[in-house]
Amino acid sequence: MGPETADDAGVYRIGEGLALVDTVDIITPLVDDPFTFGRIAAANALSDVYAMGGRPVTAMNLAFFPACTLPGQILADIMAGGLDAVREAGACLVGGHTVEDHELKYGLSVTGLISTGRIVRNSTARPGDRLILTKPLGTGIVSTAIKADMVAPGVADEAIRWMTALNAAAAGLMLECEASACTDVTGFGLVGHACEMARGAGVTLEIALDAVPVMGGIMDLVADGLVPAGCYRNRDHYAPFVARSSAQEDRLIPLFDPQTSGGLLITLSPKSADSFLSMARDQGLFAVAVGEVLPAREHAVAIV
Ligand code: CO
Ligand code: CO
Repeated sequence: MGPETADDAGVYRIGEGLALVDTVDIITPLVDDPFTFGRIAAANALSDVYAMGGRPVTAMNLAFFPACTLPGQILADIMAGGLDAVREAGACLVGGHTVEDHELKYGLSVTGLISTGRIVRNSTARPGDRLILTKPLGTGIVSTAIKADMVAPGVADEAIRWMTALNAAAAGLMLECEASACTDVTGFGLVGHACEMARGAGVTLEIALDAVPVMGGIMDLVADGLVPAGCYRNRDHYAPFVARSSAQEDRLIPLFDPQTSGGLLITLSPKSADSFLSMARDQGLFAVAVGEVLPAREHAVAIV
């Protein structure tokens, strides 16, 4: 599976029933603390392997660092944060490369293993399935507020907790419950990724606005205009594919917010969705039913 399928990662068969899952993701800093930034970048890069149903096995650092203007300790702290997340994932950091650059960026390439019979694609949702989301929305809005120095510490801390959290447990549960499709919510926002899922499968995803979980304090930041440009770009780009309710414009904003290290968006049969939600509850894992899969309608996504 290569780029033509627009899935979360590439998949390459290496033997009977076994394949590699390959992905790479690099981001610019969205928090001040270097260790935390490294941890977020790694959780974000690992996520595409989890979204396919894979198990991360190796990772390599990719750093772009302004060595003339920043002390080297910052890079060391960033990489320590990345290593922390890679270890938690049970994977090995096996190398990397650093390039001098005027803008700091960090990310990882991640290789995972997957059983060819258990690849969870993003284009295989079926009408009748339920839609589950495993992290609340708002990381782009909070990062914008952090950069503007206009965020309450509690609000930033909550967003950082979500961004540093791995999607490993949710992915394990998704395999156990035989999900029909999955992707992770990242740069295109919830609606953008829902559109990709819907178009890939030839279905419509109906999202219940009131059910969509949003991080604490987000609506206040939206009211203050702390919305990233990428959020409006997503909204304008996906507008032709989205049927919207007459809800207040503000309430729709978080659904287009570009996420870093966002949750998994999973489709499952109604029975499997029930088991997923109850098992998630037992494990103290966040999971919310946000909508359902319908036979194709005029729009790929309907927000109701
Ligand atoms: Co992805
Ligand atoms: Co990615």
